Amino acid sequence: MGRLVVVGGLNMDIHLFGLRESGGQAPLVAEGHLAQPGGKAGNVARAAARLGAEVTLVARVGDDDFGQHCLEASAGDGIDVSGVTTTADEHTGFVAIELERGKHRSLVFSPGANELLTWADVAPHVAGLTVADVVVAQAEVPPETLSALAAATAARGVPLYLDPTPPDRVRRDHLLAADVITPDLDEAAQLTGRIHSSRLWTRSAAAELRAAGARRVLLKASEDGALLLDDDGLREVPTARVEAVDETGAGDVFMAALAVRRLEGGDWDEAARFANAASSLSVSRVGLALPDRDEVAALARELAAAVRPPG
Ligand code: RIB
Repeated sequence: MGRLVVVGGLNMDIHLFGLRESGGQAPLVAEGHLAQPGGKAGNVARAAARLGAEVTLVARVGDDDFGQHCLEASAGDGIDVSGVTTTADEHTGFVAIELERGKHRSLVFSPGANELLTWADVAPHVAGLTVADVVVAQAEVPPETLSALAAATAARGVPLYLDPTPPDRVRRDHLLAADVITPDLDEAAQLTGRIHSSRLWTRSAAAELRAAGARRVLLKASEDGALLLDDDGLREVPTARVEAVDETGAGDVFMAALAVRRLEGGDWDEAARFANAASSLSVSRVGLALPDRDEVAALARELAAAVRPPG
């Protein structure tokens, strides 16, 4: 099985849940909180390692306790953290996440060291990769670093899986280099400049993103599952109905599971079902929940049984 290299953000997250307005100038009151290592790349790396992949994480943290904690958590999951640079005089990325009924009410992001990730940090970790490996990236790093990564993976034929988030930092050259992009509905709306309105909209947004240069679009449509659009046409990918407890990192778990199944030789449809299974398990639990291999595989089998045969 090939190697997975994950490039991007590594943060400390604080999840605040059970929020109550106290009225007037009084502060919002949270029933509880959870502090956890996060960041889109950190989450993908940990979820993929949990699902059985050999993972290298490439990121930057500050020279502080949060950075140390993020590093230790990743290393503890068996991830190769030789690509994580500790940055003097900068803080580790930090995110405060307000949750309302499992969904994000607001996110406050202080990117810190993430903004200093350079191509020089990344290059040694993608130099030896081949078509049998996968690189996963998001846009939580400087756009020029992502552009250099896009150019290098395209030149060597290394598959690049891009989660186009935050969408305002995604450039056309990033989309053109990606084997697959995995926006959610809000990200697709921002990338296409049109407000999400209906299931028909979802299909036309996928088509528009493909026309903009993305080779393959896997649009995450929340409880409606996902839409997969590539040279083989458009397919609906089913998902499981679950009650959302904490949506944080569900997209990262989705990406991790997709990459793991592809590295194992799964086709795109099968890998997309595996990804939907993993993210729905993750969303039904508090914090960044990293589902186990067996439970994801069992749910993916149920989803496969729900797929109508063509014709
Ligand atoms: O995708 C979820 C992640 O986005 C969180 O862990 C947070 O750190 C933000 O980067």
